[in-house]
Amino acid sequence: MSDTALLDAPATTALKVENVVLTFPDGEGRVTAVDNVSLSIDRGRSLAVTGPSGSGKSSLLAVAATLTRPESGQVWLETRDGVVDLATVSPRRGAELRRDQIGIVFQQSNLIESLTAREQLEAMAWLGSRPSRAKRRDARERADELLCVVGLGDAAGRSVGALSGGQRQRVAVARALMSEPSLLLADEPTSALDSESGRVVMNLLLETAREFEVALMLVTHDATVAARCDAQLHLVDGAVVQ
Ligand SMILES: Nc1ncnc2c1ncn2[C@@H]1O[C@H](COP(=O)(O)OP(=O)(O)O)[C@@H](O)[C@H]1O
Ligand SMILES: [Mg+2]
Repeated sequence: MSDTALLDAPATTALKVENVVLTFPDGEGRVTAVDNVSLSIDRGRSLAVTGPSGSGKSSLLAVAATLTRPESGQVWLETRDGVVDLATVSPRRGAELRRDQIGIVFQQSNLIESLTAREQLEAMAWLGSRPSRAKRRDARERADELLCVVGLGDAAGRSVGALSGGQRQRVAVARALMSEPSLLLADEPTSALDSESGRVVMNLLLETAREFEVALMLVTHDATVAARCDAQLHLVDGAVVQ
């Protein structure tokens, strides 16, 4: 499909992955981590990616995150500046996209212990720029708003080191939403949490995707969670299995 064809498609398509192949060196040969995978996610919709360990879930997510470049295939992302093929962007442009248009939540929250919850979010808005006073104020307002959305309005001024695992992951979700991304990627975001905290974080991801009209790609090993997503993609040995 050409660039133009996606523009003609319903305007709600946020991510379209086509025939992506990714291999890694493996001893004498190579292992196919992603084997000709295609998918698409509309804004406000969620896709669960499931499959056994080593089936390519994280590799597929890394491609969509511009963290890994595939050997072949296209990864169209609808951005504020038009449609971009993530499979061929430069490392520099990829970093910009991760800062401005793609939210990522990993297994561990990767927060800076010494910062407050609010500062974690504000720092996202400041990355790579020297913020004006107005920009700082906007970032602070948005940070506080998002912390309320994730149920941590009261914890905005607390340092992350003092928060529970579940609260940290909620800060990580809020941080991922700071840039108003069109795509939210989450790789087993609750696997380090107890089941109740995990449930809260999952609800949050599914609800915010809908409410903020973000396309959500969610790697999970939990069939119940997968069933709550709008669509599911099951991988075995890197390939999609119906
Ligand atoms: N950086 C890497 N170097 C070499 N092989 C890798 C690398 N990342 C993933 N792989 C291999 O790719 C396959 C898919 O891995 P991964 O995407 O991590 O699966 P999952 O997330 O489903 O557990 C596995 O065979 C894994 O060993
Ligand atoms: Mg993985």
